[in-house]
Amino acid sequence: MSTTRNRVAVLHGVNFDILERRDPDLYGGRSLSQLEHQIAGWAREAGLEPLFFQTNHEGEFVEYLHRLPDLADASLINAGAWTHYSRAIADALDVAALPAVEVHLSDVDAREDWRKVSVFDGLVIEKISGKGADGYREALDVLARELGVAA
Ligand code: DQA
Repeated sequence: MSTTRNRVAVLHGVNFDILERRDPDLYGGRSLSQLEHQIAGWAREAGLEPLFFQTNHEGEFVEYLHRLPDLADASLINAGAWTHYSRAIADALDVAALPAVEVHLSDVDAREDWRKVSVFDGLVIEKISGKGADGYREALDVLARELGVAA
């Protein structure tokens, strides 16, 4: 069995299944599968092995986080609107106890006040927002460093 810790779960929450239908000025106009394809390329370049998950159901997201320590060594999380209020998801991420980076396509700190609040505050290594898809690349680099993975 390999002892390399390089598996990164890329988790998307509510409304990411319709990413291509959301405001292109905020979210880039691409579909989730296009975004995941791009992330997969960047992950492999960084020496990481990506796995992907998306759901619109909060309980399913929580249950995936319960299984996370068996599936991955780190996570990259964009929980969409749940970011701003789901303490259940924050508690489950805390229990998973893996290195995590929070990413947002849009600049959540420059939008409505309610988007400035993140339940992941204090649980993640870093929050990256407003950099579009490039934010994911940055997050992967943070996680590669954290896991001690050399590209
Ligand atoms: C988002 C920002 C959230 O406020 C919003 O609810 C989303 C997407 C982003 O990637 O910019 O669904 O997480």
